[in-house]
Amino acid sequence: MDAIAVYDDGDSPELIDVPRPTPAAGEALVRVLRVGVDGTDHEVIAGEHGVSPAEDDYLVLGHEAVGVVEDPNGTEFTEGELVVPMVRRPPGPDNEYFERGEADMAPTGQYHERGIVGAHGYMSEYFTSPAEYLVSIPESVAEYGFLVEPVSITEKALEHAIASRSAFEWTPESSLVLGNGSLGLLTLAMLGSRTERTYCLGRRDRPDPTIDIIESLGATYIDSRQTPVSSVSDRYEPMDLVYEATGHAPHAFETVEALAPNGVGALLGVPGTHEFEIDGGALHEELVLHNKALVGTVNSGRTHFERAVETLQSLPEWLLDDLVTDVVGVDAFERAFSDDDHTIKTAVEF
Ligand code: NAP
Ligand code: BGC
Ligand code: ZN
Repeated sequence: MDAIAVYDDGDSPELIDVPRPTPAAGEALVRVLRVGVDGTDHEVIAGEHGVSPAEDDYLVLGHEAVGVVEDPNGTEFTEGELVVPMVRRPPGPDNEYFERGEADMAPTGQYHERGIVGAHGYMSEYFTSPAEYLVSIPESVAEYGFLVEPVSITEKALEHAIASRSAFEWTPESSLVLGNGSLGLLTLAMLGSRTERTYCLGRRDRPDPTIDIIESLGATYIDSRQTPVSSVSDRYEPMDLVYEATGHAPHAFETVEALAPNGVGALLGVPGTHEFEIDGGALHEELVLHNKALVGTVNSGRTHFERAVETLQSLPEWLLDDLVTDVVGVDAFERAFSDDDHTIKTAVEF
């Protein structure tokens, strides 16, 4: 069957032929409909993040999938049911995080991530999965079902950020998303119903499709070349919530300056090594004297996927149509990995 993979010694995705998988006991066989592409896929392709399975010199890409159960194989699913797979799998037996249903909290070495870390992804005609890692979705979500996974990432991030402020009366009014990529824009849309005023930071000139989406959502576009994150608080307003989705490491620390007293910053980017100077004392003091928090957050669990299915249904149709700039067939898969300024979110359709 067709699969889209990156070889360890390669720097771009390739169409390869791999055997169609056979479901083991407890696994269902899923026929893939669509698989989304995000910034992580680009990092994996560039060799900056992730690793191929130990037994192979290539990695089948894709962790944002939607598919249809072709063979339930004795699991609770029915043939034809629409499903979205979760990303993490246990790398071996007796894994306490997976047993507790908290795989998203497992440290490095205690998980595989399909399409990213140590396990093949979903960008192929079929995949198999234990039933416990499949989430059923309604027909109405099928077209954009590949967005359930990224929305679930933000469901988790916001849950953790809000939980960090649960010890006192906290009513966030302003929020700032750093990054106008697909994760940033989805998150901006989600924050529209949670805070009165929303802002999104990028580094693009107008006209630009991401700025159009930001403004159509009623948010304010901030150009980081004119207003660095550290000046946002003075130029606009101090932010109760900051969501970092640029992967630009200095933003993690500048977020502390952008926050209002008692605010929280959620960090999502995976930047790798990036050395620069910061005033550690000022940063430390600001966190302490103004009760600020920074929360790092990765991956997502079943409850986040389930909430994401609800959230996706509540997002306006125009947003999803404008956000998903290209859905391509396997014969044109390269287009899904383009990263020009007109590309926001893409998916490969099988
Ligand atoms: P993406 O499409 O690459 O988006 C990143 C955006 O940030 C781009 O639009 C980029 O602008 C903008 N940006 C980068 N540096 C900037 C700067 N200095 N000032 C202003 N804007 C800047 O990636 P994504 O899929 O949205 O994901 C965002 C980040 O989250 C990535 O690092 C990804 O690895 C990470 N991520 C983490 C998780 C998790 O579980 N923690 C999940 C998904 C993704 P241009 O396009 O104009 O360059
Ligand atoms: C995926 C997460 C994953 C993270 C780190 C993200 O793009 O959506 O599921 O945990 O990358 O590898
Ligand atoms: Zn992702």
